[in-house]
Amino acid sequence: MIGKISIDLHKLSKSVNIAIPVLAVLFFLAGFKLSYYFHFGTIAFLLLTLLNYFYMKVQTGHALLRNFGLMGQARYMMGSIGPELRQYFFANDTEEKPFNRTERSEVYRKAKDVDSATSFGSQHEFDAREVKVRHSMYPILKEQQTPYRLTFGSERGIQATYTIDKPFIISAMSYGALGEKAVRSLARGAKKAGIPMNTGEGGYPKYHLDEGCDLIFQMGTAKFGVRNDGGTLNDDKLKALVAKETIKIKLSQGAKPGKGGLLPKEKITDEIAELRGVPKGKDVISPPFHPECVGPENTVKVIGHVQEVSGIPVGIKMCVGRPSQVEELVEEMVKQDVFPDWISVDGSEGGTGAAPKAFIDSVGMPLYPGLKTVNDLLTKHGARSRLKLLAAGKLISPE
Ligand SMILES: Cc1cc2nc3c(=O)[nH]c(=O)nc-3n(C[C@H](O)[C@H](O)[C@H](O)COP(=O)(O)O)c2cc1C
Repeated sequence: MIGKISIDLHKLSKSVNIAIPVLAVLFFLAGFKLSYYFHFGTIAFLLLTLLNYFYMKVQTGHALLRNFGLMGQARYMMGSIGPELRQYFFANDTEEKPFNRTERSEVYRKAKDVDSATSFGSQHEFDAREVKVRHSMYPILKEQQTPYRLTFGSERGIQATYTIDKPFIISAMSYGALGEKAVRSLARGAKKAGIPMNTGEGGYPKYHLDEGCDLIFQMGTAKFGVRNDGGTLNDDKLKALVAKETIKIKLSQGAKPGKGGLLPKEKITDEIAELRGVPKGKDVISPPFHPECVGPENTVKVIGHVQEVSGIPVGIKMCVGRPSQVEELVEEMVKQDVFPDWISVDGSEGGTGAAPKAFIDSVGMPLYPGLKTVNDLLTKHGARSRLKLLAAGKLISPE
């Protein structure tokens, strides 16, 4: 129904299906009687007739084409340009996902160092939003500010601490999910900005190292880059890894907590096999969790082991699911007196290279409640001062 005009698609497609061969015949006749140029039309409509026949009588894979023929194809075409039409013409400035136009343009402006001040007030629905930043009545002046510094590993008193002086890190994105150019561009950007970049689960960070930025090596559940053949941790490879300002053990990721993965053998090129430390010609499974981490006790032991072997700051990344399990983990840290140098809380709204929709939409806690849960539990058990807390999940603006 468009306004008051209703369109019967069945009738329309029947008319189109009759019109196409009829036009082929008419062009054929006109080609004889008037000018042979009309035969171009004959050929075009003949091909369309054959295509229509194929859609409606031969193929069985697409019900829409089987029912509507070429009209069905028109619907696919309209559907395929729908996102662009909505984005450029119809969507309002605050309704797109994952980032709307207002948010994107703020990021673009900041990236280009263009003034991002706007007028006429916020576009957010204020009634439905909590207060996020409680400002002081007595703000400090710029010259009174102490420069930002965060040192990982200082709580353990290790020699090889690692300090960042800007509150940003490029999140884990594996080589594989990203291509060489993306990895190189991000690594180059990180170097320029003076911030570290996380390698993601892609194994040995060849291209990152080429570009020379600070790196956080991610040890995913398959331990790509630091694994034995069976997928267990190879301490020697861990020690030998040169890309190591810090190491992050991935326990779970916001977009797909508890979800493992499969690297199909077809995707294992010579390079991937080398970087990930896996054999060619065999599917490789990323387990849904580290096989050694079968409970809080073992998980904390693994953290302690990696800290000991590597000698550098080691953190963990997790998306909060059941608060009771996070509490058990914190209790175990206190009991063993072993703490990761940081916990990176990943909100369920965070991005991913690939994950099933149900996981993206429904599994895990969003960042704010997740971060609060972890912070509160650490504080409750007197462990908050033993580590740093990081956060990720669509954080693109300063608040
Ligand atoms: C293309 C892509 C690849 C990713 N690969 C990994 C990965 O290898 N390991 C991991 O822990 N998280 C991975 N993530 C998730 C991010 O590290 C991060 O947790 C998520 O994007 C949320 O943070 P953000 O909203 O600030 O991007 C990936 C995300 C994207 C978009």
